[in-house]
Amino acid sequence: MSGRAKLGVLVSGSGSNLQALLDACARPDYPAEVALVVSNVPTAFALERARTAGVAARALDHKTFGSRADFEKALGDALEAAGVEWVCLAGFMRLLGADFLGRFPGRVLNIHPSLLPAFTGLHAQRQALDRGVKVAGCTVHFVDPGMDTGPIIAQAAVPVLSGDDEAALSARILEEEHRLYPLAVKLAVTGAVRQEGGRTVSSVGPSVDTAGLRNPGEPG
Ligand code: GAR
Repeated sequence: MSGRAKLGVLVSGSGSNLQALLDACARPDYPAEVALVVSNVPTAFALERARTAGVAARALDHKTFGSRADFEKALGDALEAAGVEWVCLAGFMRLLGADFLGRFPGRVLNIHPSLLPAFTGLHAQRQALDRGVKVAGCTVHFVDPGMDTGPIIAQAAVPVLSGDDEAALSARILEEEHRLYPLAVKLAVTGAVRQEGGRTVSSVGPSVDTAGLRNPGEPG
């Protein structure tokens, strides 16, 4: 036993956030390891990233299941069989129901490309541009059955620059996502933050609280 928290990472696409977690887990002092990657999209490049890193990876195509409940049961079974303790959604484009979440209580995290509670759901970056916001960013939060509604753990902000299109803003946010997700996972698996009721509670001092916030221009 390594004593590191076992992560299950759920993906649907490119998996650049998965890569950030894999890279963090490759550091000997990082308190977690990826035990299993599951994609609901069999062709997702994220599966390739997992295999390249030598991590178990499997596709569970939701379309091949008779119901959402059947899919989520199989997903939970696969994660439990791999010894997964924490579930990280990394570009996983499916909502998860209460039965699934109940199998990993307070231990399911998601990253979303907006400063929640603004701009939930699909195309968050386009929504931000359409509304003309001047500051955008990303959020890691505990998952509840709603869409991007669970208690917030950490956020990072980036400026919206004149001339930004969706691709440019998404790329700037994604860079911060790759820093923020490993940080937030570390806070969660070490118990520095936890979900209590509908809130995130921090059990350590202000220095770690501050680590959950990244401002534009912040060094390092
Ligand atoms: C990321 O921007 C992630 O925040 C977003 O999908 C992208 C996945 O990229 N997730 C959501 O919008 C969830 N609501 P990746 O596959 O390269 O990590």
